[in-house]
Amino acid sequence: MRGEGAVRSVLAGVGGYLPPAVVTNDDLAARLDTSDAWIVERTGIRERRIAAEGVLASDLGAEAARAALADAGLGPEAVDGIVLATSTPDQTYPATAVRIQAKLGIRRGFAFDVAAVCTGFIYALAVADAMIRTGHGSTVLVVGAEVNSRILDWTDRATCVLFGDGAGAVVLRAGEAGPGGSGPGLLSTHLHADGSYADLLYVDGGPGVSGTSGHVRMNGREVFRHAVAKLSAVVDEALAANGLDHAAVDWLVPHQANLRIIEAVAKKLRLPMERVVVTVDRHANTSGASIPLALAEAKADGRLKPGQLVLMEAIGGGLTWGAALLRL
Ligand code: COA
Repeated sequence: MRGEGAVRSVLAGVGGYLPPAVVTNDDLAARLDTSDAWIVERTGIRERRIAAEGVLASDLGAEAARAALADAGLGPEAVDGIVLATSTPDQTYPATAVRIQAKLGIRRGFAFDVAAVCTGFIYALAVADAMIRTGHGSTVLVVGAEVNSRILDWTDRATCVLFGDGAGAVVLRAGEAGPGGSGPGLLSTHLHADGSYADLLYVDGGPGVSGTSGHVRMNGREVFRHAVAKLSAVVDEALAANGLDHAAVDWLVPHQANLRIIEAVAKKLRLPMERVVVTVDRHANTSGASIPLALAEAKADGRLKPGQLVLMEAIGGGLTWGAALLRL
């Protein structure tokens, strides 16, 4: 726990952006050997958004960042840095974060990408928090933006039905912890990785191995098994690190990969589904964008209120996994 007077990263604004084109399960069933019933039963996914040709992660990310800045009541001139979670960058380099920076008209501060696949937003949040607490800037945009549709094998029914495109962003601002660590801000972040599981979920291309961008490959059953066990452990770790009980959590805002994984973690936390923010039915898995998109939705519809405790968790390729506890 971070004590009184310590610098803390406070959530000042949230925003999301989804490309307009909706692709339903029935749309996929028209061109693949799958069905709405199979996809809904195994994953809870009903539809996803797909970016139009030529629309890049930086386009989606810049829209989400604009929305988050507007929610915070800030202009781009306030931004000291951008940390972007993406696994579908515009180009190998420069970092897509600098494309977002340029699209926002910002010409100062830092901007870089974090690659931790579906855990990317938790990693980016942890990095941005560390940058704020070590004085690299006081207002940092943390963005998650993905065009997963560009790296899917649209003939592989076991993977292509699971993912979607989108972006979300938050504005973190330096604040100060109150007496006894009270007051708003990120309480802690918890990051894990185990590369011995790298081949359970990977993209079979890249400048090193093939010179092409490649396609998503996954052992779904194994990823599912690790997801439930590792997410249950990391949420316990986050609560224990802050001396908090499961009952203190107002909202679970999980990475949105699969409704069955989300329900399993909620059950372990003894949290009713009314206190879990779910978007996977409409967004599918948007990798690094799913948590900020869910936060944006819950903020916009009035569910998130000052003083509440938000628990975020994610797992993804790597395997990487992590959690963050945030007081609103
Ligand atoms: N439509 C219809 N059938 C499908 C299908 C689809 N879209 N995808 C796979 N199947 C078939 C398989 O071919 C298999 O058929 P077979 O028994 O004839 O070989 C059958 O369904 C069962 O496949 P299996 O992979 O064992 O199913 P599952 O119950 O494990 O569910 C997932 C598959 C992918 C939904 C599930 O494993 C999962 O959600 N895993 C986690 C994936 C994830 O969230 N990854 C991202 C983490 S960030």
